[in-house]
Amino acid sequence: MTESMIVPIRWQDDAIELLDQRALPGKYETFYARDVTDTVEAIRSMVVRGAPAIGITAAYGVVLAAKSLGTSADWQPRLDEDVKLLATSRPTAVNLFWALERMKNVITRHIYATVVPTEALLEEALRIHRQDLQDNQAMARHGAQLIAETGNCEVMTHCNTGALATGGHGTALGVIRTAWGDGLISHVHVNETRPWLQGARLTAWELEQENIPLSLNIDSAASLIMKQGKTQWLIVGADRIAANGDVANKIGTFSLAVQARYHGIKVMVAAPLSTFDLTLATGDEIPIETRDATELRQSGERLVTSETIDIYNPVFDVTPAALIDAIVTEKGVIKAPSAKKIAMMFNTLAN
Ligand code: MRU
Repeated sequence: MTESMIVPIRWQDDAIELLDQRALPGKYETFYARDVTDTVEAIRSMVVRGAPAIGITAAYGVVLAAKSLGTSADWQPRLDEDVKLLATSRPTAVNLFWALERMKNVITRHIYATVVPTEALLEEALRIHRQDLQDNQAMARHGAQLIAETGNCEVMTHCNTGALATGGHGTALGVIRTAWGDGLISHVHVNETRPWLQGARLTAWELEQENIPLSLNIDSAASLIMKQGKTQWLIVGADRIAANGDVANKIGTFSLAVQARYHGIKVMVAAPLSTFDLTLATGDEIPIETRDATELRQSGERLVTSETIDIYNPVFDVTPAALIDAIVTEKGVIKAPSAKKIAMMFNTLAN
């Protein structure tokens, strides 16, 4: 299997070592999160981004919080406060809350301990991290099999869903990486992904590192590329999937799915089970993050619109399940996703 050498998150005794994604591809810089405040800041300012990567980082953030408490007798309420703080770092990707829930379960199991259970928390964070990489590899195999059904093709992707966005390998980009290794993909069309440019800055960089053939296009060229017959699949990741299969992902995914349906192009969403939020009946309930106006007002340091103009900058949208051909998870593929099929999959796994 084609593997990525990129390591975006590393646990280093007293710090989380993060590859600073704000500086890529120009600079290879490291950000050290040494406490909860640093961790929240790293997630909020997108030093680290991508749903699974945010969850892994937050889990390590709980370990940093535990370490800072030393041997305090009142460790539990203080740790709970830090967990709450970590949960405020970004709102849309449910993997953040999923990972914090896993860490909270460890805290609950040690409720009668007189000292903070740092070792147990670290073990759980490491497990979450390792598991994500394994899940991505399994997901990639399922996704590649699906591509094999349609034969050798070119694909389009949006945002960055690669090693940088996960514990390694990637979700949608993991599928692409594996399918390319299997000789199933000949070219990747990378949308630049306005306004933060995850496609241009991160996905293009990841693919180039591994000599996977790509071309970068502006987001609004997608329809033309589809019309020209240059892509057979749109392959994207997800930040939260509701119980009925509606998918929140990077802004623009919804329009791409509409365009794909119009052009008869298949839409694949690759996401681990930790991205499902079965507490939400539909995607209408998914909180959509809006980010700072400067992302649109400026290009680098240069002002590109009036300083006073009102700006609306939602950074995720929700693609209705009806526009999705398949959701690929580590446990298998859900074709034409629906509430019933998703419930069936989770029920089967629970039994
Ligand atoms: O704002 P970002 O860069 O965190 O958004 C990331 C995405 O939308 C990804 O597509 C999603 O998290 C899936 S990543 C494996």
